[in-house]
Formats: sequence, structure tokens, C-alpha cells
Amino acid sequence: MKFHVSLFVIISIILGIKLEGCRCKVVQFIFGDSLSDVGNNKYLSKSLAQASLPWYGIDLGNGLPNGRFSNGRTVADIIGDSMGLPRPPAFLDPSLTEDVILENGVNYASGGGGILNETGSYFIQRFSLYKQIELFQGTQELIRSRIGKDEAEKIFQEARYVVALGSNDFINNYLMPVYSDSWNYNDETFVDYLMGTLREQLKQLHGLGARQLMVFGLGPMGCIPLQRVLSTSGECQDRTNKLAIRFNKGGSKLIDELEKQLPNSSFRFGDAYDVVNDVISNPNKYGFQNSDSPCCSFGNIRPALTCIPASKLCKDRSKYVFWDEYHPSDRANELIAKELIKKFGFITVHQTNPPSPSPTLAPSSNH
Ligand SMILES: *[C@@H]1O[C@H](CO)[C@@H](O)[C@H](O)[C@H]1NC(C)=O
Ligand SMILES: *[C@@H]1O[C@H](CO)[C@@H](O)[C@H](O)[C@H]1NC(C)=O
Repeated sequence: MKFHVSLFVIISIILGIKLEGCRCKVVQFIFGDSLSDVGNNKYLSKSLAQASLPWYGIDLGNGLPNGRFSNGRTVADIIGDSMGLPRPPAFLDPSLTEDVILENGVNYASGGGGILNETGSYFIQRFSLYKQIELFQGTQELIRSRIGKDEAEKIFQEARYVVALGSNDFINNYLMPVYSDSWNYNDETFVDYLMGTLREQLKQLHGLGARQLMVFGLGPMGCIPLQRVLSTSGECQDRTNKLAIRFNKGGSKLIDELEKQLPNSSFRFGDAYDVVNDVISNPNKYGFQNSDSPCCSFGNIRPALTCIPASKLCKDRSKYVFWDEYHPSDRANELIAKELIKKFGFITVHQTNPPSPSPTLAPSSNH
């Protein structure tokens, strides 16, 4: 019986018959920080977290800055591509209309944003996760008024959701003595505070219709170049890495609990901590040559907080794990995405559309 049901579903999909009269396409809604931002901060003119200048985006499309904090694709880009889903445009993209949303979804991710409202406040402007959810509610209103409540509900229940935040809650909050969270909590209670907040946020998203949701865990963030320069020896910050491990443990448990508790939910948690840690310790094994400094840097002036037009680029961007002080390169993101896909263990949309071709890499410029 089960066989017949799935055969029916597959045939329906192949023939393009939409189930239950829903004329909708499966799209993604992405909530995140700079690791998933595809241009929101570019339009937040006062934000100090910007990827709007060269050499950001050099290996994607036309090679001009597109708001991604990398030379190429984000992890969410690569995972979405592998599921055959369109890449959602940034919420603040001026060309975003109801039709674009129905075809592509929306990406609310914002550089500097965190699970906590107070995270990243020194970037002046960024969307925290609560703010992103608020914006998503606005999107829902828009779609409802366009196609009606019932059809809209189906779309939002069919959609795929990505939630990928957390590193800024440490790097740009808890680990900085200017933030009160650094005095009010210890390593254990702070992660509990994050998990309690994330629990409410994910429940809220479920209440808004999210059923199929992936949460990305954290990598060894104590090994980002920005953390390494904190010690004279350039070692990874052990305490920061332990916080990431604690976050991942808590996140994995939280998602399992929520999946049991929330009706019809298919929630997955995945992190690439171990793989990235191995890449950092044994870069050659994975075809990298450098795993401790940014490909884009401003001479010996470190840390250079962002990559800027006056920065120098490494000779071969595919040999560097890190693109800038915070963010992995396109090739590292590909490795992370592969690991997450394995962990999530579902690529359910794959059959409906042929996988999108990899973006064409711009020919290497003379930098
Ligand atoms: C966080 O910010 C949202 C608005 O984006 C607000 O509604 C909410 O009350 C804030 N939560 C806390 C705990 O400050
Ligand atoms: C769960 O799925 C069933 C069957 O599709 C549906 O009848 C029910 O309303 C759903 N519940 C929620 C909370 O989505």
C-alpha cells in the first residue's frame, strides 16, 4: 500500500500534477547570519557588516559583489541547489514582488544577526532572528492577500525552511566584554539561554506553518582567522570551540524534542564541526594549502575586519579554507554543505526538478 502511495506521488510529480489543487512551487525561506546573507545588509545602509565591495563575490556569476560574505556560494546556496530548489532572493532586494516570492521564496539572513536580539549591536543595523521572523510574517500577509488564505497556507507548509544562526551570539556578543551577556552568564547558562530562545523561535515558525526545517549547527569557530589572532601563537581558541560543541549538542537535542512535540514537523539538525576541524588540522588531505589565514587580507594588517578593494587576494582561492577573517571560501562551503546533506539525510525535492548546474565561476582575474 505504501508503495502505491509513493508511486502515485512520484508519478504526480513527474507529470507536474499538483496535489490537492495547490498550484504552488516548493520554495525556501532562509533565516540566518552572514554565512547565509545574500544581500540584505547591502541595503542596510548604516550596517557595518557589509560585503558590498570587491572582492566579495569574485567567483560567482559576473564576479561583482552580490552581498554574500564569500568569494562564491553560501552553504545554503549549495544545499538548496542540490535539492533542486531555486535560490531565494534577499528580502530587501528591490525587485522582490509577490510573484518572485511564489517562484523563489525569500532569504532574510543578515550579517551580524544572532538568535538573541542584543547580538551584533555594534554593527548598528542587522536583522536578528526575531526580526527575521517578524519580516516573514509580513511576507505571509502579502502572499495571503495575493492568493488567498488556503492556498497560502499550503505554500508555507510545503516550503523548506533553513535556520542558521549562532556564531554571532558568541563572537559578537558573549565573548565580548562590552556585552552584558558576558557578565550575566557562564558558558553553560549562556548556551541554555540560547537554546531556550531558539526553542521559542522555532515553535513560532511552526505556528506560522513551517513543517520541513533544517537547522545548521556551528563549526569550530575558535579556528576562524579572527579568533586565531587573539593568541600570539596563532592557535585556535579552545574555549570558543568548546562553546560551539556545546551549542551543537544542545541544538541537536532541542531539534529532536521539537520534532516529537510539534505536529507534522520534520525538523533536522546538522553540523559539520568534525569535518571542518579535520580540514583545519589536515588541509592537504582535502586539497587545501592554507587553513589558518584569510585569502583576502590587507597586507600584514590583521585582523582586517572585512575584505576591501585595497586588500590582496591569495593566488589560488580554491586552496584556502577561509575567504576573510570570519567566513569560509566557496570550496570550504561546498565541503560543509556535503557534510550537512549527509547529516540531514533527506533530499526530498530532488526528483521534482533537475539539479541546477553549478554556478559558472568567473575566470580568475589578475588578482
Ligand atoms: C526581540 O525583538 C523583537 C522585535 O524584533 C521583539 O518583538 C521582542 O520582544 C524582543 N525580545 C526580547 C526578549 O527582547
Ligand atoms: C497534520 O497533517 C494532517 C494530515 O495531512 C492534517 O490533517 C493536520 O491538520 C496536520 N496538523 C497540523 C498541525 O499541521
